[in-house]
Amino acid sequence: MGDVTLYRGDCLSKLCELPSSSVDAVITDPPYSSGGQFRGDRMQLTSTKYQNSGAKIVYPEFAGDTRDQRSFGYWCALWLSECLRIAKPGAPLCIFTDWRQLPITTDAVQAGGWVWRGVVVWDKTEAARPQIGRFKSQAEYLVWGSKGELPPREDVGCLPGVFRYVVRQEDKFHIAGKPTALMRDVVRICPPGGVILDPFMGSGTTGVAALLEGYRFHGIESDPECFAASELRLQAARDSRIVSRSTAQQPSLFDRVPWSPAATAADPGPLFPGGTP
Ligand SMILES: C[S@@+](CC[C@H](N)C(=O)[O-])C[C@H]1O[C@@H](n2cnc3c(N)ncnc32)[C@H](O)[C@@H]1O
Repeated sequence: MGDVTLYRGDCLSKLCELPSSSVDAVITDPPYSSGGQFRGDRMQLTSTKYQNSGAKIVYPEFAGDTRDQRSFGYWCALWLSECLRIAKPGAPLCIFTDWRQLPITTDAVQAGGWVWRGVVVWDKTEAARPQIGRFKSQAEYLVWGSKGELPPREDVGCLPGVFRYVVRQEDKFHIAGKPTALMRDVVRICPPGGVILDPFMGSGTTGVAALLEGYRFHGIESDPECFAASELRLQAARDSRIVSRSTAQQPSLFDRVPWSPAATAADPGPLFPGGTP
């Protein structure tokens, strides 16, 4: 097996293909199904929910973000229990969420059979979207836990409980893309050299961080455009190149140029072995 394996499709079906007790950490950023108080709010496009009006960059919309809170919780428990089967005993779990979905996410972690161990704060800095007459939603959260006991590991060391990173446009390849520097800090919860699984990889930031920090990576993504972005970024990370919009010789991910590896004339096949639907 290489250091990266990518699967395109729904994670609930793709996770079933992965062997039991085979990954050292699950680190993921699922669709939050957030962005409003009522179901009608949540049914809006992800660009409407998660981007400032007037934003100049067009990212592809992404799937799976319209569940009401109860069905979001049940759905999370389903994929979390499948991730539990795939994780090795003692493997850490990290899931991103926002303030609105924080309570249901901690419930789902436990319903999925994981031991809930805490909440880490990602401070997005004062650059977060302002709200007139209200507190800024300046933080997102990482709910974390483990598959059973979590033995103290000298090789992992002591990690912070708050991360402060701004979102930089040149490092953002998805509406909900996380900063690569943030993810490089987060993946360090995994024992050195281990395999990290992200069942909602989006543009592949967890995988990029994993490779840059010396881990192996399994990623799943249902959206073809996001999957293609992940392939390119992971290939670049593996080649130890820094991808930015100004330097990358790649089709634009921001202008919705239709592109897929399979559609190119000299198709080299998947960059990374794995299942596609
Ligand atoms: C919040 S985004 C992840 C962004 C990622 N952290 C990044 O930095 O690019 C969640 C991703 O999960 C994908 N997704 C939604 N439902 C899915 C499913 N059932 N199986 C696999 N991927 C899914 C969406 O297409 C979206 O790209």
